[in-house]
Amino acid sequence: MRTVVIWGGRPLQGKVKCDGAKNAALPIMVGAILAQDVSKISNIPRLADVDTMVALLRAVGAKVRLDGDEVEIEPAERLSKEAPYDLVRRMRASFLIMGPLLVRCREASVPLPGGCAIGQRPVDLHLKGFQAMGAEISIDRGYVHARARKLKGAGIYLDVPSVGATENIMMAATLADGETIIENAAQEPEVVDLANFLNSMGAEVRGAGTSRIRISGVKELRGTKYAIIPDRIEAATYLVAGAITRGKVLVENVIPTHLKSVIAKLQECGCNVLEGAKSIEIQLGTRPAPANVKTLPYPGFPTDVQAPFMSLCSISTGTSIISETVFENRFGHAEELRRMGAKIRIEGPNAVVEGVPQLTGARVQASDLRAGAALCLAGLSAEGVTEVTGMEHVERGYASFLTKLRGLGASISVIDPGINRASGFLNTT
Ligand code: EPZ
Repeated sequence: MRTVVIWGGRPLQGKVKCDGAKNAALPIMVGAILAQDVSKISNIPRLADVDTMVALLRAVGAKVRLDGDEVEIEPAERLSKEAPYDLVRRMRASFLIMGPLLVRCREASVPLPGGCAIGQRPVDLHLKGFQAMGAEISIDRGYVHARARKLKGAGIYLDVPSVGATENIMMAATLADGETIIENAAQEPEVVDLANFLNSMGAEVRGAGTSRIRISGVKELRGTKYAIIPDRIEAATYLVAGAITRGKVLVENVIPTHLKSVIAKLQECGCNVLEGAKSIEIQLGTRPAPANVKTLPYPGFPTDVQAPFMSLCSISTGTSIISETVFENRFGHAEELRRMGAKIRIEGPNAVVEGVPQLTGARVQASDLRAGAALCLAGLSAEGVTEVTGMEHVERGYASFLTKLRGLGASISVIDPGINRASGFLNTT
């Protein structure tokens, strides 16, 4: 398990640039196999999850060339209909290949992605959509098998505005016969980015960003050139880093309108937030005020910012109530924050966070990428030294995380796995 050591108590100052959005890059990369020829996609973040997606696309036969922040994807004439188990297990977003394979190969076999640290993560709504479009679905020995000679447009109501289900169904519908309407669709900016990408390939997707998306099937899609939107969750993470360390941080390469709910909450905590055209600057010279937060589908407060925000509330001047309504088990970081002196009580979907003047450094364990980032932010604010283990989770979703934090003045090092722990001596690089 990769571990970092953080020396806390230093206000972060300076500029940090966001990369392309992980949660836009992953569906868009897989959507590229819907086309007959090459697509060039830029502003791709260099992340472990992107590498996994490259491996997955190659495994089904696509030619993929990743060079810097640009990826070239050329779908093969004949794609393999089966996605490898180890890749889907490693990254749930691999399940997004189901829709494109089903419509390109007329059948698809994709392992059921298991649950993860934050919840069961079912895919029933994805399958409900494919069935509504005429696919025969069966589940056998942990694989979902789908078959359809030709998908037909259908009206599909999503019980939950699932990002993944909206994206999977949207991709399949681009080459189906007739019109598909997705009701109660997810409205996240990453869904809109995927729709814009598909339309740049010749698809006819209308209404992305609203709860009702209409897709008129077309005969074929052509390769395109496209640039991914900036990562709003990465941006939010660095804004919280500036606030929790009582520093002053300018986050560049962002789309401020994607962060309305986060900015509003940071201002409620007493932060001074300045919005530019493509940047947001945050400053906080004191302990934050408490704020109640409820995570909701976009445009509500993002569940992916809940953990970093809990770290901030841990040192507030009062009591905050954080309600997690999207995932059923996304408070794993609370236990670890308590080891750093935070006063947090979990009551069902709510975390009651009573602010303390200062956290103290401790050895803590990351359970998922956003929890890991939250623990690093807590360590940056804490008195003394914090060790965060499980940083491989963080590297899945944050490109150059340590470099960017060091660029803001953080004192953070990677522990060499070969250290002699008996002596407690840390060889840090
Ligand atoms: C996407 O996951 C993101 N991942 C997640 O980001 C993000 O937290 C989540 O959306 C919510 O915004 C990517 O885009 C790759 P959902 P996804 O389907 O699509 C339930 C991160 O940290 N549900 O919108 O898997 C589900 O159980 C990751 O970057 C069903 O019940 O999320 C959950 O409670 C973590 N049936 C809720 O919907 C289904 O068929 C939202 O899940 C599908 C989902």
